[in-house]
Amino acid sequence: MYGTAWKRHATTHLAQLAVTSGFRAIDTANQLIHYEEALVGEALRALEEQGIKRDTLFIQTKFTPLGGQGGRPPYDPTADLTTQVRQSFYSSLTHLDTDYVDSYVLHSPYSRRGLAEADWEVWTAMEGLYQTGKAKMIGISNIMAAQLAQLCDQAKIKPMVVQNRCYAALAWDRQVREICHSHGIIYQGFSLLTANPEVLADPEIQTIARRLDTDPAQIIFRFAMQIGMLPLTGTTSERHMKEDLQAEQLELSREEIQRIETIAL
Ligand SMILES: NC(=O)c1ccc[n+]([C@@H]2O[C@H](COP(=O)([O-])OP(=O)(O)OC[C@H]3O[C@@H](n4cnc5c(N)ncnc54)[C@H](OP(=O)(O)O)[C@@H]3O)[C@@H](O)[C@H]2O)c1
Repeated sequence: MYGTAWKRHATTHLAQLAVTSGFRAIDTANQLIHYEEALVGEALRALEEQGIKRDTLFIQTKFTPLGGQGGRPPYDPTADLTTQVRQSFYSSLTHLDTDYVDSYVLHSPYSRRGLAEADWEVWTAMEGLYQTGKAKMIGISNIMAAQLAQLCDQAKIKPMVVQNRCYAALAWDRQVREICHSHGIIYQGFSLLTANPEVLADPEIQTIARRLDTDPAQIIFRFAMQIGMLPLTGTTSERHMKEDLQAEQLELSREEIQRIETIAL
């Protein structure tokens, strides 16, 4: 999945380049502090003109709570949370020039531990969007294992997607991945490279990369895929886009997978 955070005015060009390079899934958010969702929409229009149809792409965006908006929310900040979700969602559809999104994600829970009233109100509003058919999947990001377990236990509609930062030192978010696995939730991992520079530099990873005639970055992406993750990359380089996609062709042995799983523990 191609991530469009921090691209600013280059978002249109890079999102387009990612798709023409072979990516079919794009991640954005209705959060101006980090994303230019409307420029993703421009890229989608340009791609449509090139003959790449909307329904061949997987478009994911997010509802970002007020605390993460940096002062320019795409909704009335004094409105109740249900209204904020609806306003943000319909503004996303306008930005993306589409009448549905493939996945709609709560950017982070309101609570650091457990789930509070605000989390349930927002989740219920997202369930409502799922029920309209305009959000084909709903999910949550930046969530701890205990919170995810609670959401899966108590929600009317369980999350279908989880998007989390992945630290090798936390066994690549193993606890959350295990919950996802048992509930059939797609686990999307981000910051696989940027959160784990020591793993990229590890001599064992370098040896595996040499064996497969590739770079440590591809070893990490392939490892992520082989343990069931959907990895995100936010590369700005056309060469890295191609290389990141080529990681799909690699095959790590069971021993290599086991070694990488525990490399930072
Ligand atoms: N839900 C959330 O709260 C949240 C938070 C952060 C990110 N995200 C999502 O995740 C996406 C990805 O973010 P990220 O933090 O994983 O990545 P990122 O910050 O965009 O960084 C990727 C880094 O890895 C480098 N890179 C990529 N492919 C490479 C390769 N093959 N070889 C060497 N270097 C390579 C890139 O450099 P080059 O540009 O030079 O290739 C870049 O410096 C974001 O765009 C966003 O969509 C979500």
